[in-house]
Amino acid sequence: MEDLFGGAAPYYARYRPGYSEAAIEHLAETLGSHSRVLDLGCGPGTIAIPLARRVRAVLAVDPAQEMLAEGRRLAGGVTNITWLHGDSTVLRALPPFEHVVMGRSFHWMDRRSVLMELDELLPPGGAVALISPTRQQGEPWQPDAQPWQRVERRVCEEFGLDIHTAANSFHATGEHHHEMLAASPFSSMESREFSRLLTWNVDGLIGLQLSYSYSSPARLGDNLSAFVKTLRQALLADNPAGQWEQTLAIEVLVARRPGR
Ligand SMILES: C[S@@+](CC[C@H](N)C(=O)[O-])C[C@H]1O[C@@H](n2cnc3c(N)ncnc32)[C@H](O)[C@@H]1O
Repeated sequence: MEDLFGGAAPYYARYRPGYSEAAIEHLAETLGSHSRVLDLGCGPGTIAIPLARRVRAVLAVDPAQEMLAEGRRLAGGVTNITWLHGDSTVLRALPPFEHVVMGRSFHWMDRRSVLMELDELLPPGGAVALISPTRQQGEPWQPDAQPWQRVERRVCEEFGLDIHTAANSFHATGEHHHEMLAASPFSSMESREFSRLLTWNVDGLIGLQLSYSYSSPARLGDNLSAFVKTLRQALLADNPAGQWEQTLAIEVLVARRPGR
């Protein structure tokens, strides 16, 4: 099982924006307070931890041991989360669950076969919920959506970093999650958007950059400190005030089988 985020987990846990209370509340209401939910590609528990307070149980699964360690640490006394090392290829080996959530993780998977397998595993009424940045913004493959991303892109190129993605993901195939779901057994979809205003400082933007798989500390290796120094200088040269604002919009897309 591959850890694509080598050394990024502490940065991910600290600097990646979480989801708003309203988004998690909506997800929990949609899935139901008695449900047992699989959080697939849970990372450091970005969804699992706040969701666990609102549902019966969460199975938090990730192939990266470092992410799971951050999740266990951040969860503290939360007792209804089971943290499991695993990935989208071992769904049949997992304890039973009624719904699946995937936050910014579905694009790493063989999406078509995951949906076919979930059709066999989920009970009637079971939902597949995806939380992702809206199509317009938010992730590094839309490189210039934010002013600082032009700077980050330039520095990444200088250090030979290339945004890599899973072979069958949207970025490789052009197929959006919506299209993938529409052609799957889970073709009945409901979508809601939630926005948050974020304020970044230079340490936050550097931490955010180190949280991405393609510029993780493991990928940077011996270049890590030079990269951080160069990025800091470049960001501050571009914006000496050292403060950036972002309206981050995410989509909660809940898909079920038609007629349920
Ligand atoms: C961008 S993080 C998302 C973490 C968290 N769900 C969130 O919403 O912030 C993507 C996660 O997917 C995991 N991942 C990558 N490939 C996976 C796969 N095939 N099956 C399950 N998880 C996978 C990575 O280890 C990583 O922790």
